[in-house]
Amino acid sequence: MENSTEQKKVVMTAAQPTGKLHLGNYLGAVKNWGEMIENYECYFGIVDMHAITVPYVPADLKRNVYDCAAQYMACGLNPEKCNLFLQSMVKGHADLSWILGCICPLGALERMTQYKDKAKKHKEALNSGLLYYPVLMASDILIYNADLVPVGEDQKQHIELTRDLAQKFNNTYSPTFKIPEPYIPKTGARIMSLQSPESKMSKSDTNQNGTLYITDEPNVLRKKIMSAVTDSDSCVRFDPSTKAGISNLMGIMAAFTKKTYAEIENEFAGKGYGDFKSAVADVVIEGLADVRAKYKEFSTDKSLIESALKKGSMAAQRRVNKMMSKVYRKVGFMNFE
Ligand code: TYM
Repeated sequence: MENSTEQKKVVMTAAQPTGKLHLGNYLGAVKNWGEMIENYECYFGIVDMHAITVPYVPADLKRNVYDCAAQYMACGLNPEKCNLFLQSMVKGHADLSWILGCICPLGALERMTQYKDKAKKHKEALNSGLLYYPVLMASDILIYNADLVPVGEDQKQHIELTRDLAQKFNNTYSPTFKIPEPYIPKTGARIMSLQSPESKMSKSDTNQNGTLYITDEPNVLRKKIMSAVTDSDSCVRFDPSTKAGISNLMGIMAAFTKKTYAEIENEFAGKGYGDFKSAVADVVIEGLADVRAKYKEFSTDKSLIESALKKGSMAAQRRVNKMMSKVYRKVGFMNFE
């Protein structure tokens, strides 16, 4: 990805600190972020304020923040070259989300697919934070005046809302925010569960054999891949509607190797699913070897993680302050300092 303009374009994106990153987070998101740090001014967030929208334990949240930062760095997000920030350390995200909330139609939030899914899951503990979540996400993006937002397919609807809110703010007050563009990778944007390939790979999957974590040991990765659900056919062919399991494994292989689906089909023509799964396992194990080794190194170094987050959050705060003083002025808030 090239960026030839003199002033670097700004990239902003984030993940929730929900413990271990899975292969969907990696292929749909973090791996691509690492490829952007040379050409863009990057702000990569650990969004702990989003993580409290569902029931959680405070001590686990803290542990998960460290763990998430160690995994970011292990995936190639060098804190010297990009800004790794902790959302709750940067003041302004919640303020802007309130302002955006006041121009956001309630119906737009009630229509969000992820809200509807999560609302079903957390029926007995449904809080308004869950409904308001996409406004906070819009604030995360607009507060950096980001040009580009690399995400997986599941965040598309949230980015559309962000663009609508930016436009609405600009029309209501005066041009302030750039309209951010989503960047969704061609392969890896929607990695499915290995056990139920009709739903996306997720940390909260009740069947953990369907979720590959980037820090899983090689034998665990292989076992999960070898037991992935396939179909009664025996032909390696890309067809998500009738061969969801095989197509998902092909997507994983394509994202790691950059091979096309046609190339993969040719390579495995006449071979059985066992051979194919074993080749997928080899590619995944090999592709994550470096991440796993670096994670082991970084995860034990608390001070390295703290200094990375401190540096990144301070840089993020500087950018946020500039943007927020503009926003406050536009909406008519006063400052007597
Ligand atoms: P989160 O934490 O669920 O996921 C982080 C990133 O991983 C991508 N992803 C996937 N990609 C492919 N296949 C999957 N199965 C899969 N599962 C997750 C997500 O698309 C995401 O890019 N709301 C966001 C966090 C957020 C954010 C933001 C993102 C908060 N503020 C501002 C971008 C910009 C979320 O819950 O991601």
